[in-house]
Amino acid sequence: MTKRVLSGIQPSGNLTIGNYVGAIRQWIENQDQYDAYYCVVDLHAITVGHDPAALANKTREVAALYLACGLNPDTNVVFVQSHIPAHSQLEWLLTCATPLGWLYRMTQFKDKSAKQEQESVSTGLLSYPVLMAADILLYHAELVPVGDDQKQHIELTRDVAQRFNHLYGEIFTVPEGIYPTTGARIMGFDDPTTKMSKSSDAQKHAVHLLDDLKQVHKTIMSAVTDSGNEIVFSKDPEKAGVNNLLTVYQAFTGKSESEVMANLADARGYGDLKKAVAEIVVEALRPIQENYAELTDDVSYIDSILAYGAEKASEVAEKTLKEAQEAMGFLMARQTVKP
Ligand code: TYM
Repeated sequence: MTKRVLSGIQPSGNLTIGNYVGAIRQWIENQDQYDAYYCVVDLHAITVGHDPAALANKTREVAALYLACGLNPDTNVVFVQSHIPAHSQLEWLLTCATPLGWLYRMTQFKDKSAKQEQESVSTGLLSYPVLMAADILLYHAELVPVGDDQKQHIELTRDVAQRFNHLYGEIFTVPEGIYPTTGARIMGFDDPTTKMSKSSDAQKHAVHLLDDLKQVHKTIMSAVTDSGNEIVFSKDPEKAGVNNLLTVYQAFTGKSESEVMANLADARGYGDLKKAVAEIVVEALRPIQENYAELTDDVSYIDSILAYGAEKASEVAEKTLKEAQEAMGFLMARQTVKP
C-alpha cells in the first residue's frame, strides 16, 4: 500500500537551505513513492507577531517555492492550511484531550516564549503543537518528513493520537517522523552552535533560497569556523563550523562522508572549503530561482494549484473531522430540511 505523507512549512521569514535540506528535498526525493499532502501552514505563522500586509504573499511564495524546488503538483496535493477549516476545528477537539503539562514541556515553546514578555506570549504559541497534530491526524498521515527540530512535536502528535484513540475509539493513525540522514539540522553560518532559522534577522546567519547568488557566496565565505585548519567531519563543538560546512556540502552533493573528503582532498584551508561549498550551493539554487521566476510570472497559476489542492485536501480532512466529532459524541449537523 502507498504510504500517506503530510508535511508543511510556515510562511514566516524567508525559506533557508535548512528548510530545503531538512524538509523539501526529502519530499521531492520520494515523491513517486507516496500519497502525499504538503501544506503551507499559515495558521502557525500567526503564533508570534506577524505582518498582516505580508502574510498572503508569503503564503503564495512558499507554495511557489515547493514547486520551484521540484514538487510535482499533479501527483502531490499542495494546499494552504487555512483554506481547510477542519484544521482549526480538529485542533479544538484535540486541545481538550491534551494535558497542559505536555505543552509546557515543549522546548520550542520554552525557547520562543523566553524571547518575549511573559504576559504577552500568545496562547497560540502554547497550543501550536496541537494544531500541528491536527494537520497530521486529519490526513491519517503515516509518515511526516521533517528536520530533527520537529521530533518533539511529532512525539506529541503520537501521544495525542494515542490518548484520543484510547478515550474515544480508534480514529487516528499514529504517525512517524522521517528525518534526512544528512542535514537534519543545518546550523547558522554566523554561529554554528545554533540552528539555521528563517526567522533570524542576523546578517550572515542563513542562506535563503531566494537570496541573490552573489550574496549566497558571500554568506558562505564569511561562515564562522575555528582557529585550526583541519577539514574533518567532527562532533567536537570546537569544530562545529567546519562540520556544518561539510554537512551542507554533503547534503547538496548527496555523497558519502568519505567521498566528500576525497572531493575536498586538495582544499588547502578553510577558504578553499568555503569556496567549494559556496559553488555547490549557488549551482543548486540557480535552477530553483529560475523555476521560481517562471512560476510566479503568473500568480494565478499558483492560486489555481492551491485551489485544486484545497478541494482534494478538504475531501479527506472533512471526513476525518466528522469521525472525530461523532466519536466524541457531538450531535451531528444534518442537511437543512424544513421542520
Ligand atoms: P518550520 O516552518 O520551522 O520549518 C519547516 C521545515 O524545515 C525544517 N527545518 C530544518 N531542517 C534542517 N535544518 C534546519 N536548520 C532547519 N530549519 C527548519 C523543519 O524541521 C521543518 O521540517 N512546526 C513546523 C511546521 C508544521 C508542520 C506541520 C510540519 C506545522 N504543521 C505538520 C509537519 C507536519 C515548523 O515550524 O516548521
